[in-house]
Amino acid sequence: MISILQNNNQGTVLTSDDLIHPAGFKKLYIETYGCQMNVADTEIITGILTEKEYVLTKHAELADLILINTCSIRKNAEDKVFRRIQNLRKYKLVNKNLLIGVVGCMAEHSQSELMDTATVDIIAGPDNYIALPELIKVASNKVKAVSTELSTVETYDNIIPIHEENSISAFVPIMRGCNNFCSYCIVPYTRGRERSRDHNNIIEEVKNLTLKGFKEVTLIGQNVNSYNYSQSGNTYNFARLMENVAKINPALRIRFATSHPKDLSEDIVKVIADYKNVCKHIHLPFQSGSNRILDLMNRKYTREWYFDRINLIREMIPEVCISTDIIAGYSSETEEDHELTLDLMKTVRFDLAYMFFYSERKGTYAAKHYSDDISLAIKKRRLSEIIDLQNVHSLESNKNDINKTFEILIEGKAKKSAAQHKGRNSQNKMAVFPANENRIGEYINVRIIDCTSATLIGEIIN
Ligand code: SAH
Ligand code: SF4
Ligand code: F3S
Repeated sequence: MISILQNNNQGTVLTSDDLIHPAGFKKLYIETYGCQMNVADTEIITGILTEKEYVLTKHAELADLILINTCSIRKNAEDKVFRRIQNLRKYKLVNKNLLIGVVGCMAEHSQSELMDTATVDIIAGPDNYIALPELIKVASNKVKAVSTELSTVETYDNIIPIHEENSISAFVPIMRGCNNFCSYCIVPYTRGRERSRDHNNIIEEVKNLTLKGFKEVTLIGQNVNSYNYSQSGNTYNFARLMENVAKINPALRIRFATSHPKDLSEDIVKVIADYKNVCKHIHLPFQSGSNRILDLMNRKYTREWYFDRINLIREMIPEVCISTDIIAGYSSETEEDHELTLDLMKTVRFDLAYMFFYSERKGTYAAKHYSDDISLAIKKRRLSEIIDLQNVHSLESNKNDINKTFEILIEGKAKKSAAQHKGRNSQNKMAVFPANENRIGEYINVRIIDCTSATLIGEIIN
């Protein structure tokens, strides 16, 4: 299971058991970088390619086709992939028929550099995965195969995604693309315009997941709060969709990401409060505490509006955990602006945060109109002040949980000790506790006895 809310720039591999490869099938190896959308897209790509010709392998050196599903959100995410592509070249020396493809956001944002990279045979953007079998055919004839047109309709509604074996938690994309055009952000250019998936198809997909034994679904999109789909005279917004998903099975946990503060309505918060199986966790990126910077970022809310949303959430869901994203060192950010970010953090006291320094992306409004004028040293210093403050708040939040008992969904063995299990509570906090006869996918009551800033440490309550 891959439990990330944010960028997974380490790269993860969707695996299967290599022993069950039927003869005659080619082997596909996929490495995934970036956000949950990419994780879900890798499952869609796997669904498309394993229908006929391919089986998955977890060994790049055995593959006939290597796909790298990429992210362009910050420069370091792209640098990592370019290094990885160079590193994969060695496999081509051994297997002359090996094809290497770059899919995902870099196929859009860095297409020209990829065109110049000899190791790359296939380039396919996020809306072009149906064309992959065709692109593979073209590339097999030693011709670089490229498909990067963005679509206003593609949702992959007819594809059955292939989830990682034995996983209990699945990402379910409910929309694609983004219309918000935050001035720093590359996503609207790499993923195109926002479109919502068919409501009934989402419900069917979740029903099938529960039948297959999944215990948790995360409804994902760049801005799930603006989900909107009309069908047979009914219009479904995000609140209605989430309510209908929650009603499918009370034992199925529902999560969602990401929320944009401008679209987080009372209606949505009420559904989270009303349904026990809708997890009490909201990821609500604020980016900057300064209204001047928020305006430059085109975020379309103020810090006052953000506080208002936080108050609404905490009033209606007292046990909620709130996480956020923060960008340090945006164009023209002054020390006063930075102080306002720290001040907002001190006022809200987030349970968790993902923190970055600004990375200019070519093609964005900011790259065209604003100067990337904060030095790297200042960006890094401000970011480390933000991280230090968040560590204090995360520890404080976890300490507040000591002596509380939570229902935990067991996800697997703890990283540090095989004698421990790990799992998350409704609030999305990770807990470790002694492994007993209970199995992965079961719910268990755990009383918290200790913590670090990242993990709750508990004992099982019968
Ligand atoms: N759609 C989500 C987040 C998408 S990207 C939302 O709007 O909240 C995840 C996070 O990456 C963003 O919230 C932002 O904090 C960060 N990010 C996006 N572009 C960035 C850039 N150019 N430089 C640094 N961080 C960036
Ligand atoms: Fe990027 Fe803004 Fe869209 Fe999020 S809402 S994906 S930050 S443009
Ligand atoms: Fe990265 Fe694309 Fe997601 S840029 S964050 S993989 S939408």
